[in-house]
Amino acid sequence: MSLLIVSFVVVVVLFPFPTALCWGKDGHYAVCKIAQDYLSQDAVSAVKELLPDSAQGHLAAVCSWADDVGYTHNYRWSQPLHYVDTPDFICNYRYCRDCHDSYAHKHVCVTAAIYNYTMQLKSQLNYNLTEALMFLSHFVGDVHQPLHVGFLGDLGGNTITVRWYRRKTNLHHVWDDMIIESALKTFYGSDLSTMIQAIQSNITDIWLNDVHVWESCAHNYTACPNWYASESISLACKFAYRNATPGSTLEDEYFLSRLPIVEKRLAQAGVRLAAILNRIFTSKTRIAQS
Ligand code: ADE
Ligand code: ZN
Ligand code: ZN
Repeated sequence: MSLLIVSFVVVVVLFPFPTALCWGKDGHYAVCKIAQDYLSQDAVSAVKELLPDSAQGHLAAVCSWADDVGYTHNYRWSQPLHYVDTPDFICNYRYCRDCHDSYAHKHVCVTAAIYNYTMQLKSQLNYNLTEALMFLSHFVGDVHQPLHVGFLGDLGGNTITVRWYRRKTNLHHVWDDMIIESALKTFYGSDLSTMIQAIQSNITDIWLNDVHVWESCAHNYTACPNWYASESISLACKFAYRNATPGSTLEDEYFLSRLPIVEKRLAQAGVRLAAILNRIFTSKTRIAQS
């Protein structure tokens, strides 16, 4: 009994809102489901070869793996790879200023992680390429969540306590989960596939002309995480932090004006993840053929 009370104190009192890692499971599932439909033939085969058998060829099955292992002892080192923070109230992002070194490693942040796992997959060297694919697919999702490129002082909104309608939570969690959860209930009959289909229709109907801009990287780079991060902090300032001060209650006005941002970021993350994987695995074929 006393053990129970101690656990309660530790879990509920000391950590009332565990700092969340990333888009919730639904967000990551949506990103990878969207990406799967944009993969080239070469990428589909390469991804299938690398995925664990349990995924049955579906990238979406492993897109939250990085979150699940992040809480385990062996992968605790990977926790700071889910985000990159800017100095307080600075609404732009700079790699050298914001991606810090840890005591053991250099460049420990989400943008560095995207470069690193892209490099590993391209090199085909003796890395764990299954893990590289699972990390990359997850981190491309994370860097598109505006508050994964938030302010250092509030840990990307994790320490900003707010109410989401009647529920007490924090701003980071609102953007990882609550907006998506409320959208599912309000507009999509609590069905994630219906929500994903609606985003896919927007990609082909509304954003069609933007897609090739989303996909492309300057200098023909394989991935351009610095660009995705710059967009995120800009959106964090314009939409996530705005009117969401500590103690505020966020309701319809916030929800309805921010949901289109969340849906567009999920779309961009999915399209870009596919574009990155297509570039990785197409160049592989070319090298192999030449
Ligand atoms: N911890 C510190 N900053 C964070 C962020 N931006 N997102 C998630 N967790 C964090
Ligand atoms: Zn994450
Ligand atoms: Zn998060």
